[in-house]
Amino acid sequence: MPKDAVPLPPWPARLPRFGRVLLRPVNSSDAGMAMALATDPYVCTTGTLPLNAGEQEALAWVERQQGRHSEGRGFSFTIEEQLSGLAVGHCGLWLQHPAEGHASAGYAVVPEFRGRGFAADALAALTSFGWTLPGLDRIELFIEPWNAASIRTAGRAGYAAAGIRRAYPLAAGERRDVQVYAARRPNAAD
Ligand SMILES: CC(C)(COP(=O)(O)OP(=O)(O)OC[C@H]1O[C@@H](n2cnc3c(N)ncnc32)[C@H](O)[C@@H]1OP(=O)(O)O)[C@@H](O)C(=O)NCCC(=O)NCCS
Repeated sequence: MPKDAVPLPPWPARLPRFGRVLLRPVNSSDAGMAMALATDPYVCTTGTLPLNAGEQEALAWVERQQGRHSEGRGFSFTIEEQLSGLAVGHCGLWLQHPAEGHASAGYAVVPEFRGRGFAADALAALTSFGWTLPGLDRIELFIEPWNAASIRTAGRAGYAAAGIRRAYPLAAGERRDVQVYAARRPNAAD
């Protein structure tokens, strides 16, 4: 953990869930899900999965996700369809500046499982979980203006447009102008 990092709250005793999904810690059985995500070049620009990752690269990604909480970065979850137990995607709540009461969230669904409401359910579960964390009062999403699916997902989960962030750094190193979408803790003071 970085020297100035504050320990994160513990993992939730009850896994977050909403609609058809639950969010659980990432584990080594998720390598196949990670390989499927890695077939989408855009997913690879927003995270640390290499494009068309093989099994070893996917397992290394799993290990990185498993370290996110102890590093003080945040909560990294596999999105699981409750009925089938299938891993359909990944999402994270990133809490690098807890003193400010802000977090950011990200999500990706495996291409073959898109368009079935999984991202909207996952973001609703992730957001409700966020409000159980002491001191957190705002969650932000950074979405590229062309990403209609992500903008709709944000809207479904109650996020509202909150301006533009110029030159936002993507994980792969590029910087792009993005739209900020934000949700406030229910009943948070204005
Ligand atoms: C964005 C993403 C997570 C959406 O996942 P999904 O499971 O297909 O989304 P859902 O099925 O929950 O759909 C949520 C909303 O988006 C809409 N939507 C889904 N795909 C869409 C598309 N290609 N174009 C426009 N709207 C779309 C749905 O209709 C739904 O809105 P509605 O309820 O008003 O009909 C998925 O496309 C993805 O993983 N993309 C690559 C990674 C990414 O862009 N992540 C977000 C970074 S900010």
